[in-house]
Amino acid sequence: MVDYQHEDEIFGKAYDARLMKRLMRYAFPYKGRLALAIILSLLLTAFFIAGPRLIGLAIDKGVTPKDKQVLLTITLIYLGIQILRLGFNYVSGYLLASLGQRIMFDLRMEVFKHLQKMSLNFFDRNPVGRLVTRVTSDIGALGDLLSTGIIAVVSDIFLIAGLVVAMLILNPFLAVLTISFIPLALLVLIIFKTRLRESYRLIRQRLARLNAYIQECVSGIRVIQIFNQEDRMTDKFKSINNEHYQAHYQAIVYYSIFIPAVAVLSAVAIGLLLYFGGGSVIRGTIQLGVLIAFIDYAIHFFGPIQDLTDKYTIFQGAMASAERIFKILDTDEDIKDPVRPKTAPPSGEIIFDNVWFSYNNEIDVLKGISFTIKAGESVALVGVSGGGKTTIINLLSRFYDVTRGRILIDGVDIRNIRQTELRQQLGIVLQDVFLFSGNILENIRLKGAGPGGGPIC
Ligand SMILES: Nc1ncnc2c1ncn2[C@@H]1O[C@H](COP(=O)(O)OP(=O)(O)OP(=O)(O)O)[C@@H](O)[C@H]1O
Ligand SMILES: [Mg+2]
Repeated sequence: MVDYQHEDEIFGKAYDARLMKRLMRYAFPYKGRLALAIILSLLLTAFFIAGPRLIGLAIDKGVTPKDKQVLLTITLIYLGIQILRLGFNYVSGYLLASLGQRIMFDLRMEVFKHLQKMSLNFFDRNPVGRLVTRVTSDIGALGDLLSTGIIAVVSDIFLIAGLVVAMLILNPFLAVLTISFIPLALLVLIIFKTRLRESYRLIRQRLARLNAYIQECVSGIRVIQIFNQEDRMTDKFKSINNEHYQAHYQAIVYYSIFIPAVAVLSAVAIGLLLYFGGGSVIRGTIQLGVLIAFIDYAIHFFGPIQDLTDKYTIFQGAMASAERIFKILDTDEDIKDPVRPKTAPPSGEIIFDNVWFSYNNEIDVLKGISFTIKAGESVALVGVSGGGKTTIINLLSRFYDVTRGRILIDGVDIRNIRQTELRQQLGIVLQDVFLFSGNILENIRLKGAGPGGGPIC
């Protein structure tokens, strides 16, 4: 059966300095936008923190002393700041989204260009599905990280720091009371996230198994129907479907336990604040507005902490994606153009000189093949299936390099000829016809399409 635990399942570190440094290089061309987004996020934090404080001030300086003028001024300032916040949010959202898209565009171009240069050897080792995943979802994960991910972490940290400072300034006793809930909240969140991550891994695995089974049964429907195996296949599908359902069920159970747990924790913190803070208001040690501002801060305090733990998973996924993408980019093309290419006047003499070749370095497919085809001569290679006819053409086209020996065209080793030049001299009718999307004319023109014409794909 299929190996479900493929490399896309591997999750590792959430932060890897080496990978991060390399990734930041892709953000570098857009450093202006990135800097502006960070500045905006700092300002947004300041505006956010100003909100509850202004409400508190409106109560203490306007409502309690019954001063309508002050109340109006503070209300207008509050409204002004909220409108600015909306505007800044719009700009920073736009900046980040476009930044992420630009970076993904660049990365996708780089990976695609690189893939175009790789030899068939590479494609023998890497299944198509996996490469497509690299160019699409892995790059998507990196785009998320580089645009919203990093900035969200930065702004969450700003926000937590800003809230701590604002609370400490307002009332150190109440601040310490609230902050002392952080370790407890973190503990609950970490337990929750770890369990949930495990559940999600299980869900992904079981979904992969479900998909693979459906695919197998649809492709093999002829065999299933001719042998009357429909009921047996359906029974097996039932158990696979059931496993998939169980995995989801587990995640739902975790959610239904932990979400209220976090809410209870936050409610206990607010309750304590209300009791002790309210006591201080009754004794006259703090003003009512201060308590209201404080409770507002405390309500918002657990949000960024929860968000940070969410981002941990995004970071982890993105680091794994980065590792896989860089692995492709770091795979050198094993068929390279010569440093000093030679050009022979094309007449067309082909010599195979003691050619040995193996696809996988284990079994020799060609063992010491030598022959000469004179210019203008017509030769047919005839042999059993698997005899090596296609392999000879593959070597002549330099889709692979010979393991030993050499191939000469007009006396020049084909490794000393530029690949484009070599292939321009070859005309190939493939055994398996491959059509690119487009019409017949476009497909016929593909080979002739030189610079400017451009291939269709
Ligand atoms: N990409 C590959 N990786 C590993 N082994 C390969 C690969 N392509 C071909 N082979 C092996 O090399 C040998 C020669 O195959 P080749 O395709 O050259 O034969 P052929 O003469 O073209 O056969 P046919 O008449 O069926 O087209 C076979 O044993 C085949 O299994
Ligand atoms: Mg063949």
